[in-house]
Amino acid sequence: MSMRLVDGSASSRRYRSERPAARFDLSLSENPFPPLPSVLLAVNEALAQANRYPEFFPLRLPTLIARHLGVHPDQVVVGSGATGVAMQIIQALTTPGSELVVGSPTFDGYPIMAEMAGLELVSVPLDAMGNQDLAAMRRAVGNRTSLIVICRPHNPTGTVLPAAELTSFLCSVPSRVPVILDEAYVEFLAEADRVDTDALLRRHQNLLILRTFSKAYGLAGLRIGYVFGGRELIARVRRLQLPFGVSTAAVAAVAASYAAAPELQLRIHRITTGRENLRNSLRSCGIAVPRSHANFLYLPGPGIATALRRAEITAKAYPNGSARIAVGDPEADLAVLAAVASLR
Ligand SMILES: Cc1ncc(COP(=O)(O)O)c(C=O)c1O
Repeated sequence: MSMRLVDGSASSRRYRSERPAARFDLSLSENPFPPLPSVLLAVNEALAQANRYPEFFPLRLPTLIARHLGVHPDQVVVGSGATGVAMQIIQALTTPGSELVVGSPTFDGYPIMAEMAGLELVSVPLDAMGNQDLAAMRRAVGNRTSLIVICRPHNPTGTVLPAAELTSFLCSVPSRVPVILDEAYVEFLAEADRVDTDALLRRHQNLLILRTFSKAYGLAGLRIGYVFGGRELIARVRRLQLPFGVSTAAVAAVAASYAAAPELQLRIHRITTGRENLRNSLRSCGIAVPRSHANFLYLPGPGIATALRRAEITAKAYPNGSARIAVGDPEADLAVLAAVASLR
């Protein structure tokens, strides 16, 4: 089955106001687990003070995250999900009319934010294996490029660029061009496949590493994301920090989540084990699902999205008929399997 991918930007223009009624909604790569009891308790305690404003400019959250990462708080900017932080980066570092280079398809937020900021989107098709084509992306970088986004793992395929390829790409990019390394799904990545972010940041002052609490931490509804990088670039991003922009509940949720690391790790393990089982079953049905390093699977092939929709499973659908589904809920995994098995 062909892995040729096409841009999902047409559907990305559709803003979802409410969740569709379906048996399973697997369209947003969410974590199937509700917040841990200890996290809920901490959030509830914070909400009891909801009549009070949070900090004017967030200090506690960047400090917590910086300590966890082993960097200085001056190297961290927090915001409303990775999406909010990415928008802040775009506003701080780009000018209307300049170009944003991305792999295509990619996270729907990037085409939307590019349009909002008046950027020209330079979409570089993924290769036949669903990887970002770094050589083609490098060729797409020119005088008008103001930002590059590399996702690792990539959304929607779940593929991971080899660390060495990423390193040589970063060395080849002009240092005036900022690069976002989007690691929204990094916690699902095996330790051996992670990149040494300290070493990369020491070498590349133009690098920004973007992460979120929406995926592995299961806090998508609280909207918590962050970026870390070199102090100079981070200071430029921080200049656009929204006053009162991060809730007290977000700080409580992050502190409680860090304290619950072993429980969260167990959940990650369950999600990734379920993902591997489902991928194996789907491949046995003849669907060429690429190896995913995230909490979703990309099911290539015409008719897949339609078969899922008929089975009342909401997936992220692509114009070529393929679909991306979140994994981790055993009941949903079985329903996906039954839906696509009926195609064969
Ligand atoms: C690659 C990637 N980056 C960023 C995000 C944004 O995550 P959030 O805004 O929920 O933190 C997503 C969400 O799906 C994503 O897939």
